Amino acid sequence: MANIRSVKGMVGLVTGGASGLGRATVERLLSQGASAVILDLPSSDGHKVAAALGDRCAFAPTDVTSESDVRSAVVLAKQKYGKVDLAVNCAGIAVAVKTYNFKKDLPHSLEDFTRVITVNIAGTFNVIRLAVGEMGKNEPDADGHRGCIINTASVAAYDGQVGQASYSASKGGIVGMTLPIARDLAPMGIRVVTIAPGVKLLPVGIHRSDAVVPEAT
Ligand SMILES: NC(=O)c1ccc[n+]([C@@H]2O[C@H](COP(=O)([O-])OP(=O)(O)OC[C@H]3O[C@@H](n4cnc5c(N)ncnc54)[C@H](O)[C@@H]3O)[C@@H](O)[C@H]2O)c1
Repeated sequence: MANIRSVKGMVGLVTGGASGLGRATVERLLSQGASAVILDLPSSDGHKVAAALGDRCAFAPTDVTSESDVRSAVVLAKQKYGKVDLAVNCAGIAVAVKTYNFKKDLPHSLEDFTRVITVNIAGTFNVIRLAVGEMGKNEPDADGHRGCIINTASVAAYDGQVGQASYSASKGGIVGMTLPIARDLAPMGIRVVTIAPGVKLLPVGIHRSDAVVPEAT
């Protein structure tokens, strides 16, 4: 059985790291002695968050769906901290719209559906495919491990609610791609896991992606 290892000295990319689960992940990595690069939108609080968290944290303004943005973030991690050991995919978006609004005689916007799928599935895959090239260059540890990918799905992948067609489809896509990607990367000692959180407790007034309410039918 593999040894339980510490993240001390590791370098993690954390998408969506300016807010919510991503930010909490960044803080946990730093508190346990790792370094972290926040990959989040230029419009996010990424700069402010990284500045507040000290030298072991950096911000790379990134849209996860952009190849060049993610490549630049990987380069930043490599230049500043020397390597990439972990990639934690927390960036995600949701819309809350029913498949058809019979009151307004309006179908769900295909553009909205595609945007959620693109950010949540393609964005996650984009980060994985570009991060693992760097992980593959790491010396394997005693158990043959070179790195780890952690993706964020949702309970909505298995039990989607009213108005969650696009969100549930996107999270189901993340669940579905986890095993083949894990099989692709296992020979290199790169582990791939996906978590499926339930709805988290939200501070009053904070809008989070799993807690959006659909418009009236
Ligand atoms: N909040 C919940 O109850 C809950 C439950 C289950 C799963 N999740 C999932 O957990 C993850 C984090 O959720 P959260 O509640 O912390 O969300 P959040 O809205 O607080 O944070 C999401 C972050 O992702 C960033 N982001 C959005 N689009 C991006 C893009 N294209 N490129 C880069 N960054 C982008 C946002 O700027 C934001 O900082 C999401 O994937 C969400 O679907 C959340």
